[in-house]
Formats: sequence, structure tokens, C-alpha cells
Amino acid sequence: MKSSIEDIKSTTENTFVTWSRQRDWHPLKIVSAEGCYFKDSGGNKYLDMSSQLMCSNLGHGNKRVIEAIKKQADKLAYIAPSFDTDIREEVSQKLKSIIPDNLTKFFYGTSGTEANEAAIKIARMYNSKKNKNKIISFYNSYHGSTLGSLQLTGDFRRKLVDNYETAPGFVRVAPQFCYHCPFGLKYPECNLACAENLEYIIKQEGNIAAVIFEPVTGTNGVVVPPDGFVKRIREITEENDVLLIADEVMTGFCRTGEWFAVNHWNVKPDILTAAKGITAAYAPLSLTAVDRKISDYFEDNIFAHGHTYEAHPLMLAAASAAIDEYRDYVLDNVKKQESFFAKKLQELKEKHPSVGDVRSIGLFGAVELNKDREKRIPFTTADDKIAGRPQIVAKIAKYAMDHGVYLSTWISHFIVAPPLIISREELEQGFSVIDEALEISDKEVIK
Ligand SMILES: Cc1ncc(COP(=O)(O)O)c(C=O)c1O
Repeated sequence: MKSSIEDIKSTTENTFVTWSRQRDWHPLKIVSAEGCYFKDSGGNKYLDMSSQLMCSNLGHGNKRVIEAIKKQADKLAYIAPSFDTDIREEVSQKLKSIIPDNLTKFFYGTSGTEANEAAIKIARMYNSKKNKNKIISFYNSYHGSTLGSLQLTGDFRRKLVDNYETAPGFVRVAPQFCYHCPFGLKYPECNLACAENLEYIIKQEGNIAAVIFEPVTGTNGVVVPPDGFVKRIREITEENDVLLIADEVMTGFCRTGEWFAVNHWNVKPDILTAAKGITAAYAPLSLTAVDRKISDYFEDNIFAHGHTYEAHPLMLAAASAAIDEYRDYVLDNVKKQESFFAKKLQELKEKHPSVGDVRSIGLFGAVELNKDREKRIPFTTADDKIAGRPQIVAKIAKYAMDHGVYLSTWISHFIVAPPLIISREELEQGFSVIDEALEISDKEVIK
């Protein structure tokens, strides 16, 4: 049984839903959630195979995190950011034990978007005396929804807000994406042309303050970089006196099988941003962590940034408990499940003609659907999405929901990123429904 129309009518009349035509929004009412499952008002139960928006890393109903928030609420729910609190110090110390060790000072905001806004403002302020203010980002990226972070964003969402108009101070370059290489080359013969192109642009543009990148491109397809890419862009930025900002909003906090994705390549960015997993979505907290040379700069220069809810105690309490959970058993579970997870994705590719590519790292995966596997032509494009044309991934997601599995979809792929506490049996259940759902796209393959 589904939630009744009456149930949801006032919500759809009175509130907005994100990134959608409002008329198309017909939400289920969700009433409870536990572990890897959530339940709607009709009593139907769904296995969460995408951790909602790749953020519920600890699953739902985690007692330790909930208790920590309650305890903090009783003790001190809010205080202005200019005061010190025990919880602020506690979380900062815990972060220092897990984050790349050059990142020694933290700014706490409330969303990934805010974390990136802070990062680019910090990069500009730090470089102001050198008259460097441009920020380079990659196409095929997502960095947030506000005007600044949307300028960083390479995907089509910019079109809906600024009609692809680029504001001064922002430059975008071709991304790493071996499956759809923008240079039409093959790794490793390409000699990392995508990274070398970055250096060319840095040199041609001049006055570049920073480069921001997703160590593993998230929403736009879980694109794991080829070996050498992350190291090479670190070298290039260092050699050209440009800051490197790693946007770990989706990849941070164990999603990829390491505390942070940059650890896979032993790279230390100058600034690292995180959100989502930092509290496993139990409270809205984000992190902008900076290298000592940057924090030193602000000893004598104004840190011109802030929010009322910076370092909010309730959110920090959630982060403190979440970090304990990751450390005690969750990171181990990701390492335990990741090869099985990758194998299940590979099996989908081998079996289904509509699956063009599967990519994964840790418990972070994507299934890309192509109507022509040979030519790598996706079923739908960003323009189809903007025009509201039917999307094959929507049909797949609907089938999955009707069979008790939730999937987050995007243009012509869906993301498989279950809570990091997931068991082997739950993975089996999720993949078996995905396997059935893919019969839908198989029927529409043209070649
Ligand atoms: C890599 C990345 N950066 C930034 C953001 C923006 O985060 P938020 O939605 O919390 O503002 C997202 C959100 O999905 C993201 O995936």
C-alpha cells in the first residue's frame, strides 16, 4: 500500500522539492527508518541502496549518534561561534587523527555547498596579495547549489540558473573520464592528457588561486580516476603555486574504503571539504580543513567568512559519535564488502547488454546505461532531463522501489552506494532487484 494522495497534498502544495519541476513531485511519506531500511506510511519497507543522497553512511536509527545529539541538546544546544565549547575541541581532535596531517585548522559549516563556498573564499583571500583570484574546476563535476559553488559545478545544472554564463574568476577544464575521454584517448597511452591539459590552462590563464576537484567524481557517474591522475594534478598545482582543493563531500568518511579518497593516492590537498558522511546525515554539518600555511596567513589577516550556525554544538555532537562508529567497525566493513560489491557490479555488466560501464571504489558504485554499448551512447542526456523527456533510469528506479529497493538516479546512470554498515545478505537482496530491473533497459537497447 502506498501513501495516500491526501497524505502528501499539503506537503507538495506548501513546500519545494529540489532540482525538479514541482508538478512532477509525488513523494512517498516516510515514517521511520532502521539500519539499511526505511518505511513508508503504507507500511512498505525499502532497502536503501544509495544511502539517500550518498550521505546516510551509518544507515538509519544509529543509537550512538542519536544519544550523542540528545545529550548535547540537554547540555548546550547552541552558542555563538565566537565562544569555545568542549564538543568543538573534541571533534577537532578526532578529525586531526584521521585527516591528512597537513590539514591543521577547521571551519565548520552546515552543507557541502557552504564548505566549498568557504574553500574558494579562503583560496582567494589567501592569494589576494599575489593578485590571484581565479578558480579552476572540472566539467562533469558538482560542487553545490549557491551561485559561487554552482560556478564551480561543471554539470548542466548551471544552465538552469545562469544559462551557462561564466562569472569572472571561474574557469572550467576537461575532466578525467576514461570511459568517455574528452580527448578521445586511451589510458595509459594518453600519458594523462587530462592532467597535462590542466597545466596548460593554468599557464595560459595566469592568476589562478586554486584548482578544485572531486577525487572520485560523484553524482556525475562515480568516475574513479586513472592511476597517476591525482598525484599528477598535485604536482602540477604545487609547481605552479596553485592551491589544490579536494571536494570530499561525497567521498569522505569511509565511502571509498579510506577515511578520505585522497588517501588512496597518498596526496595531501591544501584544502579539503567534507559534509554528508561527517555526521552520516544525522545533522547538517560540513567541514573546510586547511593547510597550516593557510591558517597562518589568517593570524594577521581577517578571516572574512562566517555563519550563525558555524560549529553548532548539536551537529558537532553527531560528528563526534559518527567518527567513533566509523573507527570502531564501519571502515572495516567497507573493506570487507568492497570486493564482493565490485564483483556484483561486474556481473551486471556481463549479463546486461544495456549496461555500458560499471565503476566502483569502496562501497561507491555506478551503473551506466547505454542504448549502444559499442559506441557508448547513453539512453538519455542532460538536455533530455532539462526538457522533461522520459528517462530509462526513472523506470529502473520505479521498478526497484516497487520491489523494495531505493536507488538514486542521474541522467543515464544510477548510483549504488548503500549504508556502509550493509551486510552481505542485504547486498545480495539489493543486487538481485537491480538485476531484475535492468531487463527494462535491456529491451530498449538498439545495438
Ligand atoms: C561532491 C559534492 N560537493 C558538494 C555537494 C553539495 O553538498 P550539499 O548538497 O550538502 O550542499 C555535493 C552534493 O551532492 C557533492 O556531491
